[in-house]
Amino acid sequence: VAWGQDASTPSGPSVLDEIKARGELRVGLEAGYMPFEMRDKRGGIIGFDVDLAKLMARKLGVRLTLVNTQWDGIIPALLTGKFDVLMSGMTITEDRAKQVDFADPYIIIGQSVIMQPKLAATVHGVDDLNKPEYIVATKLGTTGDTAAAQYMPRAQIMKFETEAEALLQVRSGRAHAFVYDLPYNAVYMARNPGTLAHLSKPFTREELGWAIRKNDPRWRAWLNDFLAGAHRDKAYDALYGKWFER
Ligand code: ARG
Repeated sequence: VAWGQDASTPSGPSVLDEIKARGELRVGLEAGYMPFEMRDKRGGIIGFDVDLAKLMARKLGVRLTLVNTQWDGIIPALLTGKFDVLMSGMTITEDRAKQVDFADPYIIIGQSVIMQPKLAATVHGVDDLNKPEYIVATKLGTTGDTAAAQYMPRAQIMKFETEAEALLQVRSGRAHAFVYDLPYNAVYMARNPGTLAHLSKPFTREELGWAIRKNDPRWRAWLNDFLAGAHRDKAYDALYGKWFER
């Protein structure tokens, strides 16, 4: 730290200056992850992350552009500057933190299991699914994918590009179960009552965080201040209620 500089208020070039200069905040996400980022009936992208992004843009005094990006390539897209911040329900993991910086966690979730209803009599948790005769569907490159490999190493894992494809496998009987973030699974079950069974007790604990490129302490500090402010003025609670408690 140079003379006259305060370690708690980092200085130096930051994407924060670029955002203000261009008058636009670019947020990367993959629409399809309910209720964080998903399509409404008219094709617009809505959700918890989206509302927080809107609030962020308002605080910055700039317009908001959502950059919809496939999950598979979402970290590379951030790294090559396609957007300023990745707000896509991403779990903070050690592996990802080698490539990106995460702001403070904004919500805690866990993995749950959606499965064929006929399994409900015998399968009561992930241990019961850990058998070679079971086919478990996951979304490629997610923590559901790593959790399935870790908790159900004996089962056959089938990875899919999208949540919808993976769940279709369970519905059509080609897979027995789908392992994914509880919030998504809960919305899916509410929207498709009576079709599948849900083991809704989460079996992992995961912190979700917004990701930015490394070496931008000012932008990271801004995001953390924003999040703390949203908690203080209850804007966070209002949005949480809107998206998770209905
Ligand atoms: N939390 C999980 C993960 O980080 C899934 C997030 C998926 N998000 C999305 N927008 N598709 O792997």
